[in-house]
Amino acid sequence: MNSSPASQYTWAGRFSEPVSDLVKRYTASVAFDRRLWRHDMQGSLAHAKMLARQDIIGAQDLADIERGMAIIRQEIENGQFQWSIDLEDVHFNLEKRLTALVGDAGKRLHAGRSRNDQVATDIRLYLRDGIDGILELLGALQNALIALAEREAATPMPGFTHLQVAQPVTFGHHLLAYFEMFLRDGERFIDCRRRVNRLPLGAAALAGTSYPIDRAFVAAELGFEAVCENSLDAVSDRDFAIEFCAACSLLMTHVSRLAEELVLWMNPRIGFVRLADRFCTGSSIMPQKKNPDVPELARGKTGRVHGDLMALLTLMKAQPLAYNKDNQEDKEPLFDALDTVTDTLRIFADLLADGIHVCADAMREALRQGFATATDLADYLARKGVPFRDAHAIVGEAVKAAEEKGVDLSALTLAELQAFSPLVENDVFAALTVEGSLAARNHVGGAAPAQVKAAASRARARLEALLVPVAV
Ligand code: ARG
Repeated sequence: MNSSPASQYTWAGRFSEPVSDLVKRYTASVAFDRRLWRHDMQGSLAHAKMLARQDIIGAQDLADIERGMAIIRQEIENGQFQWSIDLEDVHFNLEKRLTALVGDAGKRLHAGRSRNDQVATDIRLYLRDGIDGILELLGALQNALIALAEREAATPMPGFTHLQVAQPVTFGHHLLAYFEMFLRDGERFIDCRRRVNRLPLGAAALAGTSYPIDRAFVAAELGFEAVCENSLDAVSDRDFAIEFCAACSLLMTHVSRLAEELVLWMNPRIGFVRLADRFCTGSSIMPQKKNPDVPELARGKTGRVHGDLMALLTLMKAQPLAYNKDNQEDKEPLFDALDTVTDTLRIFADLLADGIHVCADAMREALRQGFATATDLADYLARKGVPFRDAHAIVGEAVKAAEEKGVDLSALTLAELQAFSPLVENDVFAALTVEGSLAARNHVGGAAPAQVKAAASRARARLEALLVPVAV
């Protein structure tokens, strides 16, 4: 029996004094890594099964471990489990309780492994589930986006460059731009998942183990695609977590762009959309206010996810091989990114599904005021043989005249337009209307309503095809 002054610790044999309370708090991770408990248990059970198959522990030991784990599972689920900071982390908390419940079998479980390969395995299992959850929510958000885009495939709105009215697009076309961003985000998560899905167990502390283990069996048992090939790498690198946070950062960047547009669009001066009340709040002092809190917060929370990525990159950059305790700091940023993205996707899927009222009249009015079809007039003249640069200058003058008159280009009379170029004929009005301008952009990727509808149905199929391999 261990009778050293630090004997509360599993590793206390060679220590002559206990750690101070502050150091205990500083080094403990149980407050935040306890959420790994299911995956820790999953990993332990697969490891125990392998140990028994390889005759490293007895069949009775395995039965005891399985029985003890089932009890612990119930205790945790019922909120009866006593988490203890004295036991440092989730691994020691579970192992100690297991040993209390089933005796020596609990102590045999750790043969052939270390907390180093154990924690790396736990995080990978946890993250794999997290990625699957994200893919499912992202899929729901994208389906909502496609449905809205289909409904609004022919709703004209101004497209902007430099935040100035540029040319007509449709609201559906605009939304499908976000679909493309989110589809690439999904691809990134799926790609990241492949590298997450490798088994570290068997690496033990850093050098592997002298027990006759069967890593392939454990990998198959846990649904990992393969084992990590190098023991030093297996316990030390967290690049898979960094990649995940990078994918989260880009996803949040895309959400943030959409959020920024929602904030602008729902400003009464623009008034392109109204958000359902459940996504907004009022002011404590100004009774008239309805503030776009949800999109603003999504924009704000993008910053913390980018911060999580920077934290992990910096955490890793100067670590010598192999495991260092620095790595315990991987969890909070990782969990924060996962939680933030998960909540954000859940809310935005709901918001896009039925939280947006589209104000088509405001969009059309903005098109009119912005002379959005000016380029179409220039293209019209160019088709009639005017060099495009000259056409550009002619239309500039026409815009000036329309502006002075306070009307859209399409409201100028034929005679007025002919004053700028004798080549203008009656067919000019087909080009000058918003509908004419949109219909003319009739190619893959263009803003014509028929193209937008076709793009939306292709989007649905592309999303499905992407998600098939992970069967979300
Ligand atoms: N709580 C630790 C972590 O998260 C577990 C591994 C500790 N290993 C060690 N040798 N101190 O990284």
